[in-house]
Amino acid sequence: PRFSVVIPAAGIGKRVGSEIPKQYLTILDKAIIEYSLAPFLAHPDINQVIVSIAENDQWFNHLSIAKHPKLNIVKGGKERVDSVLSALKSLPVTDYVLVHDAARPCIQTSDIDKLLQHALKYDSGAMLAYRVRDTMKRSSKEQQVKHTVDRDNLWHALTPQMFKNQQLINAITGIEAQHLITDEASAIELSGGTVSIIEGRSDNIKVTQAEDLLLAEFYLSKI
Ligand code: CTP
Ligand code: MG
Repeated sequence: PRFSVVIPAAGIGKRVGSEIPKQYLTILDKAIIEYSLAPFLAHPDINQVIVSIAENDQWFNHLSIAKHPKLNIVKGGKERVDSVLSALKSLPVTDYVLVHDAARPCIQTSDIDKLLQHALKYDSGAMLAYRVRDTMKRSSKEQQVKHTVDRDNLWHALTPQMFKNQQLINAITGIEAQHLITDEASAIELSGGTVSIIEGRSDNIKVTQAEDLLLAEFYLSKI
């Protein structure tokens, strides 16, 4: 099969609270998004990488990888799902598409390979995730514990997540409650499909808050 990658990078990174969108912050001399893109651009089985950037983006074109022959840019949208959808529509419907957050710089080739190897086996798609380790509590709104959530089959969702492009486009466009789509797997779930989990690395963190920058720097210094 033909594999492509979609990188939503049109967010503003409100929770990190930096002056520029978090994906353009520098860690050890490279922008976060450059780390997130690198293993896909270097991968021999990946044909094309589409990056969704904001309409007023002033940073992407200054990156050293901006002119990479595998790269294409599309305009992102208001929500993450809009940014993903506009990229999906620019790709052949027959492609297998891996969607990966621009804000996940610690992704490693070994995890990408696990997904690619399973493309034909898992027909409705597959995603990386890692097992929950802490004891999990469900509380009331008043923060009183209601019960302990069974941790046995509980996972942290990661990216990349891989689907057949046509199937993912159909799933996303077929759902009215777009706010329920927090990752691509949720769109498939809501439309009745079954997504398989492939155990991934727990250091594949999303930079979400300012303190995640130090953690990402630590992991990147070890890769
Ligand atoms: N994203 C996007 N288009 C949007 C919103 C988000 O492409 N309209 C991208 C972000 O750039 C990021 C990924 O989706 O790479 C994951 O989203 P998140 O971590 O929530 O990033 P932001 O939305 O930028 O951060 P925040 O929610 O704190 O504002
Ligand atoms: Mg967001």
